Amino acid sequence: MQTILHTTGDVVLRATPTDVECMKGADLLLADGIVQGIEEPGVLISEWDATDASKNITLVNVHGRAVIPGLIDAHTHLVWDGDRSDEVALRNAGMSYQDIANHGGGIQRTVHATRSASEERLAAIAMQRASVAVRHGTTHIEAKSGYGLDTETELKLLRVGASIDGAGTLPSVQHTWLGAHAIPHGLTERDTIDMLLDEQLPAVLAQGLATATDVFCEPGWFGIEASEELLRASKNEGLEIRMHVDEFQDGGGAELAASLGAVTADHALKSNDEGMNAMAEAGVNVGWLPGTPHMMGIDLRDPSEARGAWTIASDFNPNCPSLSLPFAASLLVHKCGLGPGEALAAVTTSAAQTTTRSDGLRQGSIEVGAVADLNILRSGSWIGWCNSPGHSPFEATMVRGTMVHHENGLTPSSNVFPNIRGE
Ligand code: NIG
Ligand code: FE
Repeated sequence: MQTILHTTGDVVLRATPTDVECMKGADLLLADGIVQGIEEPGVLISEWDATDASKNITLVNVHGRAVIPGLIDAHTHLVWDGDRSDEVALRNAGMSYQDIANHGGGIQRTVHATRSASEERLAAIAMQRASVAVRHGTTHIEAKSGYGLDTETELKLLRVGASIDGAGTLPSVQHTWLGAHAIPHGLTERDTIDMLLDEQLPAVLAQGLATATDVFCEPGWFGIEASEELLRASKNEGLEIRMHVDEFQDGGGAELAASLGAVTADHALKSNDEGMNAMAEAGVNVGWLPGTPHMMGIDLRDPSEARGAWTIASDFNPNCPSLSLPFAASLLVHKCGLGPGEALAAVTTSAAQTTTRSDGLRQGSIEVGAVADLNILRSGSWIGWCNSPGHSPFEATMVRGTMVHHENGLTPSSNVFPNIRGE
């Protein structure tokens, strides 16, 4: 079935760190989940004789609303059970993330809750979260395991992630194995790495459940040698490398990411200048995750401190349970002076360089041949895409060619947009 989206406001075709390529009004032809045509207003409708009902082309009038590409969340921990909201009171009373972890909170607490949840329950939770992500404009998610730690539960989390990928109007999902997220109770770092290398990595590979490996490389969690051993073994097996580095302390994670050729090294709040330079030289992306320091009351880092490519992601996890990329971006726009166009690039074209779709389609821009993932804003200008923290700026999101309407009482299939122009 073909759809022509018409009477648009701004249409952002492509945002890059230096430029926002935008048409002031464009019509889009969408079919089979792919963008098939982009033309000046009116051209496609007459070319396809689309007002003739027998042509069976759906015409969607967006009444002057802006259109931007679907957003890409290249760092999430999507699948877990439990609730750690009470930890904010402990932090406000002066305990650090590490103190809370040492007193039975943090990752291990979520591991406990997640191990006792059934696969069905985790799938229902993850699906609900994925639909919240769509409401905030996200059409692709990188989802890490990491709250099972034992092989059985880690495989379960990866299977749950796989069940979302491409389902209905949920985002597409890239699956990352984060077996090295914390050291299980009763094991040493050495025991853990041995277990991951001998048992878990082979099981993940045998079931084809992940395309990347991640490690929480941080003093107090996994050290440089242990991280390197696991990541090299993963790379040798064809998995790409993603890392959590230098979140609370500079432990040399950035330098390791550079030497291993990681795709992305995320957090990087405390990475030193040499590490930042080494990552830029090695082509390692820096993934800024501003929601996490915001939730912990610690300083954000100005994104321009990355010397090469960088992205913004939500880091959705029990400690930062927000799936809104417009919110994450607003933190850097409103606190660090980042431009909304640079912020948009960080969650579209730049993010697309760091994460891939299982259907192999191009994403992050509106161009012929790319996936038909896009967002319809409430207003005619793209510029406010991250200027309404607490509210999604989007009236609807198209996922692989299917329109999902948000919060306005219309059914997902109605394709009706109330006129905002007062005509
Ligand atoms: O990226 N820092 C490591 N992992 C997650 C948080 C995990 C948790 O606190 O549950 C992160 O912030
Ligand atoms: Fe994370």
